[in-house]
This record gives sequence, C-alpha cells and structure tokens, in this order.
Amino acid sequence: MTRTTGIVVIAITLAGLASVRQTTADDHPRNKLTFGNKAGVQQTITTADSFDTDNPFFQSLGTNGRSCFTCHRPDQGWSVTPREIRERFQETRGSDPIFRTNDGSNCEGADISTLGKRRQAFSMLMTKGLIRVGLPVPTGAEFTITDVDDPYYCGAALSEASMFRRPLPTTNLRFLSTVMWDGRETVKGEAIRADLMSQANNATITHAQGAPLPLSSAQAEEIVDFELGLYTAQIHDHGAGSLTAHDGDGGPKALSEQPFCIGINDPLNMLPVMPGACAASSGGLNQFVFTIFASWQHSQSPERRAIFHGEELFNTRGFIIDNVAGLNGGGTDPVTLPIKGTCNVCHDTPNVGNHSISMPLNIGLTDAAHRTPDLPLYYLRNNSTQETVTTTDPGRAMVTGKWNDIGKFKGPILRGLAARAPYFHNGSAATLGDAVDFYDTRFKIGLTTGEKADLVAFMHAL
Ligand code: HEC
Ligand code: HEC
Repeated sequence: MTRTTGIVVIAITLAGLASVRQTTADDHPRNKLTFGNKAGVQQTITTADSFDTDNPFFQSLGTNGRSCFTCHRPDQGWSVTPREIRERFQETRGSDPIFRTNDGSNCEGADISTLGKRRQAFSMLMTKGLIRVGLPVPTGAEFTITDVDDPYYCGAALSEASMFRRPLPTTNLRFLSTVMWDGRETVKGEAIRADLMSQANNATITHAQGAPLPLSSAQAEEIVDFELGLYTAQIHDHGAGSLTAHDGDGGPKALSEQPFCIGINDPLNMLPVMPGACAASSGGLNQFVFTIFASWQHSQSPERRAIFHGEELFNTRGFIIDNVAGLNGGGTDPVTLPIKGTCNVCHDTPNVGNHSISMPLNIGLTDAAHRTPDLPLYYLRNNSTQETVTTTDPGRAMVTGKWNDIGKFKGPILRGLAARAPYFHNGSAATLGDAVDFYDTRFKIGLTTGEKADLVAFMHAL
C-alpha cells in the first residue's frame, strides 16, 4: 500500500476514549486522519486547527460509559463495522460500552450473565453492526401492529417496534437534508445545525442512558461544531492509486469545497422553504451528479478508466423507476407515472450523493420478500381500510404514524463508503456489489458483470 501523507495512529483505550498521536508530520497533519480499508485509504479532514479529542464527542456523558465515539469511529468511516465490533468483544469479553442491553442487544435487557449469553445477545451487533432502535407506535397512528414474528422472542409489547439500523456516519454532515434514516431528527423549518443539536441530546439520552437534556448547550454546540467540521472521502485506491492524481477530485479536500444548499439539483424542483435551502430554483436535474473522475476518461490506467466508467453509469445509465412510495407509489406522491431515471434521481446532491431534499422513499428493502431470518417481521393493519402490510422495519411510519410512510428511508450520503460496510439501513448488503445487485433486480436494470464491477469500483473510490 502506498504511504499517504500525515498518517495518524489512534490508540483506543478500553474506556472508548481516543488519544491521537502523530507518527509522521507533513503538511498540517494535525487536521487529517488517515486509515486503510479493503479498497484503499480513507481520509478525514477537519476545518478546525486539529482533531480535538477532548471534545465531548469522545466523552462519556451519560450513565453507561458510552460516548458518540463508541459507535462513530473515524477508522470505520465514522460508523462501526461488524469486524471491529467482534474484535472489541474478544478483547473485552463483551464488556466494552457498545455492549449494553438498552440498544446494543437484540432484546432490551437481555441476559448477559455469561460469555456465551453475551455472544448470543449481541449477535446483530456483531454480525451486521446493527443497533436496535426501539420506538413506540405514534399516538393517533393510522395503523396498528397486530403481530410480530420475532426471531429473538423478546416479548415486547405491540405498541412498540424494534428496528435494527446501521449507525450513520457523523461526517460530511454539512450536506444533510435529513437527519437519521427515518428523518426523525429533521424538524420542519429548522436549520440542520438545530437538528444536530437536538440529535446530540437525544443520542445521549437513548444510547448513553443520560438524564433528560443531559448536555449543556455548550456541550451540544461543541459536539455539533466538531461534527460539522469533518469531511471524509477515499483518497487512495489500491488499483487506481491516488484519487487526486491527473485532475481527479477524490479525497476530502475537494469535498469540503463542494457547494451545497437544500434542494440543489432536485429533479422535482420542489424549492423547500427552510434555513439552508437554495435561494433559487434548481432548474431541474443536471444528470452529471458526480464529476469527480471526469478527467479519467482516457486514462492510461484501466483501473482509473473503470472508476470513470462507473461514475458515468451512475450518472447516465437509465432504467424504469416505478412504484417507489414517496416518489411515484400512488396516493399523494409528487409523480404519478413510472419515470425513466438513473441512480442520481434519488442520489442528486452533486459529488455527495444524498437526496438533496428531505424525501424518504420506499425502495422495497423492508418488504417481507427481502426478510432474512435474523430480522423481525411486523404485521401492520390500516385502521380505516383494514389493509395489511408485512415489513421488517416500518421506517418513517414510526415517526409520522402515516400508513403511506411504511418502509420509507432517506437516500444517504454516498461518500466514504469503502470503510463502512455493510450497507443499507439494516446492513442487508454485505458489500457494494450486493447493493448494486439489489438495484439491478429491483429496477430490472440489466447491468452486465463488467458494468457492476465498474459501479463498485466507482463507489469504492468515493
Ligand atoms: C450505541 C451506538 C450509538 C451511539 C453511542 C451514538 N450513536 Fe449516533 N447513530 C447511531 C445509529 C444506530 C444511528 C442511525 C439511527 C437511525 O437513523 O435510526 C445514528 C445516527 C447518528 C446521526 C445521524 C447522521 C445522519 O446522516 O442522519 C448523527 C449526527 C449521530 N448519530 C451523532 C451522534 C452523536 C453526536 C452521538 C453522541 C452524543 C452519538 N451519535 C452516539 C448509533 C449511535
Ligand atoms: C428511487 C430512489 C433511488 C434510486 C433510483 C437509487 N437509490 Fe440508492 N438509495 C435510495 C434510498 C432511499 C437509500 C436508503 C435505503 C435504506 O437503507 O433503507 C439508498 C441507499 C443506497 C446505498 C447504501 C448507502 C449506505 O450508506 O448504506 C447505496 C450504495 C446506493 N443507494 C447506491 C445506489 C446506486 C448505485 C443506484 C443506481 C443503480 C441507486 N442507489 C439508485 C434511493 C435510491
């Protein structure tokens, strides 16, 4: 592997705190963190002078020893990966603070009295890096949970649901239009900063079992300033080499300079009215959402050409997008007919790839047909029409109570992917190849093996 500038070693103590130590010093190494992953090397930069590991982000602020850093780690793309979680289990015999039974275990309050029981209790965390998000059915919901097929026999009441979700990265947050997979921390009319302040408090209450409003406003501000200063992207690829060479715009520096406003490049030109929204119309979709590797079209290197081609496919390969609730699934959805679109219809933020407006969509991941035996299956009945639906995660519907919101999730940021497998909210895609296969089947795209490989090479380079 080629050495990159400013390699920094993070030593992790068992308490989950970090101490950052410089090993080589090049240009401004104190504001860079660099880590290897399967596809190459990923880098995070901070717009602050240096990484402040005294920030409350790294401190235990609740009652169970956890900090934000317990589940959001720079070497794992600011999420956590199952492999590293298993290592933590081995090293601590399952006592690291991530192994807490409030939401780390398959069932709330699981029996963890022996090593074997602990291994069993945290199986979702250790196999797929999934945290259990427990939410009550909202009051006045249009539906009732009538039954659950729960592989863990937790015995929870049907007035709530346990949903297994991947920690979203706490980096590149300046580009968010929606906070959390189901948007539950996005408040209408509020700026992203305010959403993140409330998110930091709620994370401390739920994950770290802190008292109500555990953070002082100064602490919440410090956490949010820290998070908003972070930019993460792949900077080096094992095959293609430096992702900034030959006018490549890979890496976090170019990303940090990427313009953004909520609603940018929105194909539906919905012009949201809120702080941080674009002042003017998006003018519709510029289909060249990603231009990072545009200069590599005629590169000498086949690996660079493959990445270029993957980017081109992402931008331009058309397929029929039909029956996506929230987009064109019927009812009050903004589009009435199937549309011919590309990946970028939903991943429309230039060079970032998240949905530039808050518009959770149901792409079918939670349908009973995609259920794996480790996931619970919920039976939902519409209170007025008596219609029924089965789903592994009601998604946005557990926030709004709306029948039409079942199975809806946000289109997440697609930078820094290589370091944080598995993918999708429930970790159902072990690799980016699996994610591409999901789309190829769902939208009958007809990608060839070579095209799939190029799309994967491109996404690994993000
Ligand atoms: C026990 C693990 C855990 C801990 C501890 C934790 N988080 Fe998270 N975080 C998650 C999970 C899981 C999600 C996604 C949940 C969802 O969307 O339903 C998430 C989502 C987020 C998001 C949303 C990002 C986006 O793209 O929408 C932010 C921001 C965040 N966490 C910040 C924090 C902060 C700040 C702290 C500390 C105060 C913290 N987290 C502590 C697991 C954790
Ligand atoms: C109809 C809208 C839509 C289209 C079209 C679409 N996506 Fe997505 N994408 C989403 C949504 C919504 C999610 C989040 C799904 C979830 O996890 O529940 C997502 C998630 C992803 C993820 C997982 C990211 C992560 O952090 O786990 C990848 C990778 C991805 N999409 C790639 C693609 C590619 C490649 C294409 C084109 C072949 C594509 N998407 C087309 C809406 C879309």
